[in-house]
Amino acid sequence: MSGKLIVFEGVEGGGKTSQIRRSQAWLSASGWLDQLRQTTPALPDPLLITREPGGTELGKYLRQLLLSPATQETLHDRAELMLYAADRAQHVEYLLKPHLAAGGLVLCDRFTDSTIAYQGYGRGLNLSLIQQLNQIATGGLTSDLTFWLDVEVSIGLGRAQQRNKDLDRMESATLSFHQRVQHGFQALLHQHPERIVRIDASQSEQVVFEQIQTLLSQRLQQWYPQLLPL
Ligand code: TMP
Repeated sequence: MSGKLIVFEGVEGGGKTSQIRRSQAWLSASGWLDQLRQTTPALPDPLLITREPGGTELGKYLRQLLLSPATQETLHDRAELMLYAADRAQHVEYLLKPHLAAGGLVLCDRFTDSTIAYQGYGRGLNLSLIQQLNQIATGGLTSDLTFWLDVEVSIGLGRAQQRNKDLDRMESATLSFHQRVQHGFQALLHQHPERIVRIDASQSEQVVFEQIQTLLSQRLQQWYPQLLPL
């Protein structure tokens, strides 16, 4: 894969979506994307902004099922795990791999670490089984850089509640569930320091973005030495 996959992770309310939007605006306004465009003639846009679940057409249905189920029937933890994996398999094959193969850059809201943190640490499902399932769903694709936007669970859930009064199925899980998820992200940082960077997301949106900008500039310069630096 000649492109690069950058992932934003973390518990609810860490500001992933806003930071992705800001990064996109910055990369575009700086003219850096225009330079990248010259090297990716096969792509209509060299930057792909996407998310899991919900990056594909099938994924949008799965997201709906996962976050706002139409029935009262409780989604079983293993069924939940497999729906996230199905969303990922579709997303990787139809969106991520083609874009990366053509040399594009991807900013993705959540990826494999969310499954380890939420279904593994949060729901308590077997971690090595989840790793195998992630491997099947991704065909071995891993992120080149993951920003873990680390915010204290109670602050993050408070922000999510302010944003939309009706919390979705995952957001309305218990505080202790979200604390286990948080613990999962901490464990992942220790296991994969080569690709995961922790950002203190309790800081203001602007300060968080400045830290992301610094790290992104460094990485993009390493990855694309032929382009002018940001
Ligand atoms: P978000 O995209 O708005 O953050 O919502 C997605 C929700 O789905 C969030 O609560 C995290 C959860 N999730 C999992 O539990 N497992 C996964 O593998 C992924 C990608 C997301």
